[in-house]
Amino acid sequence: MRLPIDPALALVALSFLSACGDNQDPAGADELFLRIQTLDYRATFAKAPGYETQQPSNTSHSAFSDIFLNPISAKVIADNTAISAWPLGSLIVKDGYDDDGIIELIAVMEKRSDGWYWAEYLDPTASAGGASYSGKPSVCIDCHQSAADDGNDFTRAIVLPK
Ligand code: HEC
Repeated sequence: MRLPIDPALALVALSFLSACGDNQDPAGADELFLRIQTLDYRATFAKAPGYETQQPSNTSHSAFSDIFLNPISAKVIADNTAISAWPLGSLIVKDGYDDDGIIELIAVMEKRSDGWYWAEYLDPTASAGGASYSGKPSVCIDCHQSAADDGNDFTRAIVLPK
């Protein structure tokens, strides 16, 4: 019997669909992008521990990562006092670079009263960043869940003081 849809083609279609992203909050994502640019995070935020220089990425999305912490999240690291969750207002930005050193994504986590707000911009040199993911995308949460299970409040590279 012939299947009406070729399974291989269906898979290709599915992967295209998932590549479209999950931009749940376009206006909020734009606001956050403009805010981190206005804050000039690359110049004013602290580098995450272990990320004093660009590091190879453990994701398939980019080759190298820079990770920056705003003053609220940087204080957690500086205080080095055991804590089980990032405080409200923590803002963490990851720049992803390809093998040629060209920036290809900016990923952001911001701790809000209802938990982490996630955003990823796949057009990082455009004025509003071209958000592909925002809000609470399951793709972000699922891959960061292991860090939550380890008592690290969802951050994969940055370890909370224990
Ligand atoms: C396939 C797994 C995976 C997915 C999906 C993923 N991440 Fe990550 N993320 C990581 C890993 C691993 C790191 C550690 C840094 C590195 O290797 O680049 C990280 C680091 C980060 C950081 C720096 C803070 C930290 O966790 O240490 C931010 C911010 C971030 N991711 C945001 C996002 C957002 C937003 C999404 C969804 C659009 C997302 N991530 C999806 C695996 C993932």
